[in-house]
Amino acid sequence: QEADKRARLLEINKEAAKYFYMLLRGERGARALSYFRKRELSDETMQKFGLGYSDQYSDDLYRYLRKKGYEDDILKESGLVSIDERRGGYDKFWNRAMFPIMDVHNKVIGFGGRVMGDGEPKYLNSPETKIFDKSRNLYGLNFARSTKKPQLLLCEGYMDVIALHQAGFDNAVASLGTALTSGHANLLKRYTKNVYLTYDSDGAGVKAALRAIPILKEVGITTKVINMKPYKDPDEFIKALGAEEYQKRIDTAENSFMFEIRILEQQYDMHDPESKTKFYNAVAEKLCTFGEKLERDNYIAAVADKYMIGIEDLRRLVNQYGAKIG
Ligand code: GTP
Ligand code: MN
Ligand code: MN
Ligand code: MN
Ligand code: MN
Repeated sequence: QEADKRARLLEINKEAAKYFYMLLRGERGARALSYFRKRELSDETMQKFGLGYSDQYSDDLYRYLRKKGYEDDILKESGLVSIDERRGGYDKFWNRAMFPIMDVHNKVIGFGGRVMGDGEPKYLNSPETKIFDKSRNLYGLNFARSTKKPQLLLCEGYMDVIALHQAGFDNAVASLGTALTSGHANLLKRYTKNVYLTYDSDGAGVKAALRAIPILKEVGITTKVINMKPYKDPDEFIKALGAEEYQKRIDTAENSFMFEIRILEQQYDMHDPESKTKFYNAVAEKLCTFGEKLERDNYIAAVADKYMIGIEDLRRLVNQYGAKIG
């Protein structure tokens, strides 16, 4: 029964994806097609990601799926339509550029839809359903799972993943408009032990990186952080500077601990002796979290060098904290 329902929901999402895909290539999809082209996506890329268009009529997809024989109950459960007592069925996505979301088996499990131009919300996503668990799926992983590159690139958005793949970085994935969860980390761990964060360079992106690092560390993944500055995100970076420059950013990605320390430093006034001392103490406390002595020593050396602290002084401070926590 449950398996049957899941199969029906997968069918509905597949039908919807095919429908949106067809609309994009028809007369009514002209604006969406030019939107994707304006964002410099090739026809090949649009095809690879199954990009589409949802029409401006409020019950266009609903009527199409009803004609295919799907009943209101299952359509409602797909999250693609709502059933209103008085108005009847109407679509979730209207007049949006559509991004089908696939699981690792290439099955469509939901959608993201972007307004073309300004408007709120910028992205609308399918709700969680019996087949769509946002904290256990990553956009692009169906392709990235077979990459030959030595790491996975974790980014924020649909367009980042697509732009990276188009530029030859077939190892890019993104969480789906949600913060990274341990479900995502466990999924990533099946494919790699090395994740490079390539989040937006704004405050939200830095915050998201600071939250993701311990979640990845928890499952044994080594994380590095890629610097997108002066651009906003990988999509904009690649558009401006190209794939070769992006590769250089991968090659010079920052160790996640050194990233955390650098962000921490921004909270202190390093010209004020008292504030500076507090920073050193905070760093020492954080260095204690490395239980393995050799690893801790390596980080002590790296931090001492970068922040021009005497290495013996820093080691003494770390040992004081270590003694306190036993
Ligand atoms: P573009 O403007 O198309 O380049 O998108 P972006 O990916 O750069 O957008 P942004 O950095 O603002 O957001 C990152 C990701 O968060 C998006 O790809 C979406 O998955 C998600 N997101 C952004 N805006 C919204 C929103 O309004 N609602 C929801 N649910 N998710 C959003
Ligand atoms: Mn599976
Ligand atoms: Mn952002
Ligand atoms: Mn963007
Ligand atoms: Mn962005």
